[in-house]
Amino acid sequence: MSTTVFTNPRAKHGFQGRSCSIASVGSYVPEKILTNADLEKVVDTSDEWIFTRTGIKSRRIAAEAEFTSDMAAKAAQRAMDRAGITADQIDLIIVATITPDMLFPATACLVQAKLGARRSAAFDIEAACSGFLYAMEIGQQFIMSRTYETVLVIGAERLSSIVNWKDRNTCVLFGDGAGAAILQHRPDAHGLLTACMGADGHKAMLLCMPGGGSRIPATADSVEAGLHHLQMDGKETFKSAVTAMYSAAQEAMRRCEIDISKIKLVIPHQANRRIIDAVGDRLGAKPEQIFVNLDKYGNTSAASVAIALDEAVTQNRLDRGDLVLLVVFGAGLTWAAAVIEW
Ligand code: ACO
Repeated sequence: MSTTVFTNPRAKHGFQGRSCSIASVGSYVPEKILTNADLEKVVDTSDEWIFTRTGIKSRRIAAEAEFTSDMAAKAAQRAMDRAGITADQIDLIIVATITPDMLFPATACLVQAKLGARRSAAFDIEAACSGFLYAMEIGQQFIMSRTYETVLVIGAERLSSIVNWKDRNTCVLFGDGAGAAILQHRPDAHGLLTACMGADGHKAMLLCMPGGGSRIPATADSVEAGLHHLQMDGKETFKSAVTAMYSAAQEAMRRCEIDISKIKLVIPHQANRRIIDAVGDRLGAKPEQIFVNLDKYGNTSAASVAIALDEAVTQNRLDRGDLVLLVVFGAGLTWAAAVIEW
């Protein structure tokens, strides 16, 4: 156990809240694999360009009638099965997504119905690729305050439905999938030690989907102008991502009074291998400390770290008591870093 090597920031100043742990995780990715070679037939690109610039080899694409709520419910059910949780035990469902099934009702409500979780509250949050960590920190507050016993947090995306498949600058980057975590108090663990969240709305337009909201409702003209697709200034996003992820990660570790050597595994948002490497280098992390799976899935936004965390657990990369650093970045701009005693 690593309980002696860190300070629990939430226990400072005599605060009496309960700790919140991740009881279990689960994930789901669609069956269909879209490789870089497949994309060569769709846009003017190459496997060599995509892999060297991003580290991505393939991504998963949802079936025609497979929506964000379907993937979210499958990931959630896996997490529930692992923790031995039944649907009626869930007090709250939070879904982080930028690709809800529809603008309203919340995808969390659709997931609730699919799981048969009748007595839970349910809502969505939107913090793009940072959404899962934002949702986990929100869920954590309800456990810590003794308001709820069991919170289900999900990151789920069907980005294939908002990507412009004619734009080689963006369509090669994204994929579909979902990841989930069950949050509960475990008396013997510190769990979610800290989460540093941030945002910079001044850079909101670097990465956005302009159409479909109250500002530009859907019209024939807005569709024709491509305003219902994801748009991104890749270079500026890249620079902001490295700076924000590094600073958030450093702050999270500073609050716990640890350095990178105490972290068993860093699980960064899986957007671009070069961003992951740049952040890892600045943090002084060894390659074996950093979890990478974006070669298989590309950028799945809010689902990204949730899927990665589930894979890390499945691959036995984490033992109870290990310290994990999750660090994310996304549209908004938003970012977050969390230190967790696993
Ligand atoms: N295939 C071939 N050529 C391409 C492709 C492609 N798929 N895409 C772009 N190019 C071309 C460009 O047109 C450009 O050509 P030009 O010089 O003739 O204009 C050239 O390649 C270089 O483009 P750059 O933009 O300089 O490429 P860069 O090295 O910056 O990589 C990338 C682009 C991969 C998008 C990178 O900027 C990036 O990863 N940015 C960050 C994206 C990100 O992390 N988003 C996270 C948030 S996601 C969320 O919140 C939903």
